[in-house]
Amino acid sequence: MKTNIEPAEGKLGILIPGLGAVATTLIAGVEAVRKGISQPFGSVTQMGTIRLGKRTENRRPKIKDFVPLANLNDIVFGGWDVFEDNVYEAASKAKVLEKDLLFSIKKELEAVVPMKAAFDKNYAKNLTGTHVKTGTRYELAQAVIEDIKNFKAKNNCDRIVLVWCGSTEIYYEASEVHSTLEKFEQGLREDNKLISPSMIYAYAALIQGIPFANGAPNLTVDIPAMIELAKLTQTPIAGKDFKTGQTLMKTILAPGLAARALGVNGWFSDNILGNRDGLVLDDPDNFKTKEVSKLGVLEDIFKPEDNPELYGNIYHKIRINYYPPHGDNKESWDNIDIFGWLGYKMQIKINFLCRDSILAAPIALDLALFSDMAKRANLSGIQEWLSFYLKSPQTAPGLPAENDIFKQLIKLENTLRHLMGEDLITHLGLDYYEELAEAK
Ligand SMILES: NC(=O)c1ccc[n+]([C@@H]2O[C@H](COP(=O)([O-])OP(=O)(O)OC[C@H]3O[C@@H](n4cnc5c(N)ncnc54)[C@H](O)[C@@H]3O)[C@@H](O)[C@H]2O)c1
Repeated sequence: MKTNIEPAEGKLGILIPGLGAVATTLIAGVEAVRKGISQPFGSVTQMGTIRLGKRTENRRPKIKDFVPLANLNDIVFGGWDVFEDNVYEAASKAKVLEKDLLFSIKKELEAVVPMKAAFDKNYAKNLTGTHVKTGTRYELAQAVIEDIKNFKAKNNCDRIVLVWCGSTEIYYEASEVHSTLEKFEQGLREDNKLISPSMIYAYAALIQGIPFANGAPNLTVDIPAMIELAKLTQTPIAGKDFKTGQTLMKTILAPGLAARALGVNGWFSDNILGNRDGLVLDDPDNFKTKEVSKLGVLEDIFKPEDNPELYGNIYHKIRINYYPPHGDNKESWDNIDIFGWLGYKMQIKINFLCRDSILAAPIALDLALFSDMAKRANLSGIQEWLSFYLKSPQTAPGLPAENDIFKQLIKLENTLRHLMGEDLITHLGLDYYEELAEAK
């Protein structure tokens, strides 16, 4: 049965807290695609295809032609930042994209001017912002709610989604104030410092039924209060942490090793990066948030408790070093110690010279477009099918996350097939051979 999905009519506003490297690369990229200067490589919604029906049917439409997504021409961007730079200036400073490309879309980028941020320096000690709102947490939440309403009216938007592209916040765990919506709202009124800035944006979005996706590893919507609010207002949420770079490689490679029952003794991961994200992560409290998000991946894929002979003894270490000369061009090294038949040892070395924001921007776009579609399809609460894009996927409380990127892809594709009333694909494939036997 096909799900009734409201059509993507009118304009979609994508509002982004944090107009830094990722956000400006996304906005500039969409402008460049709209002008026909470039193509949206890396975006599964724009470039990916999906198999429908049997292999013999040869039906493989592009995903954007299969499900009703907002058209790139119908998107309006906006956002908040602790700095006043418009998106042209911020993109120029981020140095991800070439000057010529930025210059060709200068007018469009200059038009995106950040609103004042809901910020608390205690959550990003290496940032000193001047473009910030003042007031208690309750007042900040009300101000962000107003910002969203004004943006929607001014830009004639039919729908809005929020994608957090702000700096990684310091490490915190869920506590009493995050445990129910009532306690959270009381916490806002009491200006409880355990409510982080990203939660203020998330609250402001969800209370209005606006989807929220979290590109950073901080908890944000991954707390009971936000899950409760998302259910109450029938709003999709997704998080956390864009799956790019080294973790993307890990979740591609590790399932392959596990699939062939090859053992792993150690996985050492080193990174150097020199963008503002790297600067914020140079603070140990902010790094801890990232580390926790990155560390869980291997354990979830190898499941050492199920297979202690192969994976019971993995030494997994992650280092991120701030190194300004590399800017946004993050370089990572992985040394993987594996063993095979009779315990004979082997090594794999990966040196990924990646571009952080080039990998993250299409993820932010896809999360925005799919979250908007999920809302129109009446899906609400945690959207686990979007874990394909995320380093530390949010799941229902007590449900182990699935980090294997191939299983995540099957889940995403089957969700789309399910919504559109197509057969789910199990890859069993016995029917092809049964039909052949019958034909004989
Ligand atoms: N680039 C990647 O590949 C990647 C991958 C996974 C996750 N992430 C996460 O995405 C986020 C953005 O990364 P980036 O490289 O663009 O970083 P960035 O430092 O260039 O941009 C973040 C921006 O957020 C702003 N900011 C911080 N707190 C804010 C607040 N409370 N309200 C509004 N703005 C705020 C900062 O001023 C900055 O301009 C980071 O949390 C990063 O860890 C990035």
